[in-house]
This record gives sequence, C-alpha cells and structure tokens, in this order.
Amino acid sequence: MSLLANDAHYVDDLTAIKQNGRYRQRVFTQIHDKFIHICQHALINFSGNDYLGLSQHVEVKKKAQQAIDRYGVGSTSSAIVSGSHYLIESLEHDMAAFVDYPRALLFNSGYHANLAVMSLIGKNAQTVVADKLVHASILDGIALSGAKLKRYPHQNIDSLYATLQKHPEAKYVISEGIFSMDGDISPLARLGNMGLAKLIVDDAHGFGVLGQSGRGAVNHAGLTFEGVPIMIVPCGKALGAMGALVCASEEFIELLIQTARSYIYSTALAIPVVAALNASLKLVMKGDCLRDKLFENIAFFNQYAQKLGLHVVSHDLTPIRSIIIGDNKRTQNIQSMLKDKGFYVSCIRPPTVPQDSARLRISLTALHDTDDIKALLDQLVYVL
Ligand SMILES: Cc1ncc(COP(=O)(O)O)c(C=O)c1O
Repeated sequence: MSLLANDAHYVDDLTAIKQNGRYRQRVFTQIHDKFIHICQHALINFSGNDYLGLSQHVEVKKKAQQAIDRYGVGSTSSAIVSGSHYLIESLEHDMAAFVDYPRALLFNSGYHANLAVMSLIGKNAQTVVADKLVHASILDGIALSGAKLKRYPHQNIDSLYATLQKHPEAKYVISEGIFSMDGDISPLARLGNMGLAKLIVDDAHGFGVLGQSGRGAVNHAGLTFEGVPIMIVPCGKALGAMGALVCASEEFIELLIQTARSYIYSTALAIPVVAALNASLKLVMKGDCLRDKLFENIAFFNQYAQKLGLHVVSHDLTPIRSIIIGDNKRTQNIQSMLKDKGFYVSCIRPPTVPQDSARLRISLTALHDTDDIKALLDQLVYVL
C-alpha cells in the first residue's frame, strides 16, 4: 500500500521514537490471579496496580456476572441521559459515607475525572500549583482550563511555600497521595496545614492501601474534607476495576454534573463494572487481612532489597517499588531478561518519567507471597 503524503511525517516521528528507545510495545496478555500470560508463558505479574487482588476476587466477579444477567452489558448512554444506573448511585453514596465527604461522583476513568476537576478549578483560579511529578491527566486538565501552572520540585515543601508566597493568587495545590512512579507518600499533613491554598489530592495509589480501613492517604495524614476539599479516587488500582470517584462538596459535584465535558459527553461505565466496584468497595472496607498481607510483602521487599544492596527509589511502605536504571534500552533489556526468568515488571521510560530515569516499576499486591518477591529480587541482582 502506498504512503499518503502525511504518513511520511508519521514514519519520521515513529523512527525518532524508536531511536530514542521510547517505542512502546503493546503486550497482549491474560491475567489470572498473580500470573500474567504472555505468548503462552505464565509469568508472575509485578506490573499491575491491583494492590489488594480485587480484580480477581470471587465476590467481585460474581457481582459482575449477576449484573450482566440482570441488566446486560452497556449503560447505553451518558450518565445525564439514561446511563445513571441505580448501582452508580449506591456506589457514590457508599463512597462518600466511607471517606466522610459530602458527595461523590463516578467518572469513566481517572483520566476523565482529572480532566473534569482540573479544568473546573483552573477556570476559577488564575494560577494552580502542583508537584512536579503529578500524573499527566492532571497536567492535561489544567492545560484545558487555561490557568497558569506552577510546579514545585517533587516533595519540596520549602519550594512550594516560596511558590505560594510569590503567587498569592494561587488557590489550589495539587498532589498525589502515593506518587505513581516513585512510590513515595506525599506529606499531605504539611501541605494541608499551610493555609495558603486549598489542597487537592489524586489518591489513585493510596486508596484501599493507606489510612483506616483503606480510606486512603488523606485519612492516613489525619486530614478530612475540610483540609482536602477535593479528592479523586481512580478505581483501576486497589478497587480492581475501572472508573474514578471524585469526592467533594455538594456544590462542586453538582457543578461537575452540569458542566464537565468528560462527564456529559461520554457513555457511562458498563453496569457489570459498576456492580464490581460496589462489591470491591465493600471488600476494601473490610480488607484488613488483605492489607496485612500486602504490607508484609512490602516490608519484606524493602528489607531483602536492602540486604542485596539494591537501591529502591523510596523506602516508604507502599506497593510501588521502583528501581532506577537510567538508560532506556538497558532498562528494556533487564525487563526482558526478567521475563525469560518468569517475572513481569514494568519498564517505565521518559516521557512518563524524567529524562535518564528509566526504571523498573515493581508493584506488589496481596496476591504475592514473600517467596515470589525473594525469587524476583534474586534474579534482578543476577541480571543487573
Ligand atoms: C495518579 C494517577 N492519576 C490518574 C490516573 C488515571 O487513571 P485511569 O487509569 O483510571 O484513567 C492514574 C493511572 O494511571 C494515576 O496513576
């Protein structure tokens, strides 16, 4: 087939991506419990964000199956047309009550939710301040709003303070609860007590893991709705499915329903997914055994990595354990060698992480046991 004129540019761009070691290879997989099947090989999966193993939980699967039998698959329209199933309402209600926020609203993904929240707050604030390492969806939402974005160096409170002094017009500071690539916990109590601007937290990786009964990083920091008036909880991590719940005041949520384009102009989540989320939220609430297992794994990982002399980006007790390799191609090679030995870890390269900080991102879950982790780290030391 001949190339159209424009395609020549695409070929050049693709070549440049490949030459920079940034080519992203899609991997077709099947996941069963702690295993990921790639090309007929079962590997131990250290690449997902299913921290409590709920994507595989029998109760969650049963509720999704029952929902298919009762209601079919698709929601058939936007949530503001006829896609707001009663299961959505019960999920939003239970979430708001659990985290003690006035109201919650379900979006189709964390990306949709952050586009909506950030573009709304950005419209009402000339300047928004965010940690340097916040997720791309937050940056995209702020860009959509037209607000000026000021970023402070990762976790640098002094620099944040200086930025807020210099920009008194800034009304909001945005952080993650646990940072998705470094795996460190944000000092939310300090951020929330600055009193200069309101704190917004994307708790994609903290919800279900940190805080009392898994209420997340805001609760872990001793903060509430008063200190963090907007919290975003993507549901594809510890909740094991997909979607995102935005927790905020009645008024903020109502304004999202009225104006958020990523809410209004998108078909609502499929009902079986919502049914699964209702079940997994209940399991988070009574999931102390799962969290005990997860934290046992995290503590073992930190201790054994230290014994082997491996440098992990953060020693915080979180499921995201990253090891920086630096060079893109070398990181890919190490990932591939680990694959040959039966382990699948993610290889994260720029632009997802800063230049020269390509890394192996190892996610721990309650489905792993300490033997899996020991075997992975032994192999890692061997191939490094
Ligand atoms: C911190 C953070 N926010 C938002 C998202 C986006 O969530 P979703 O995958 O549901 O779009 C992610 C997921 O990659 C994330 O890590």
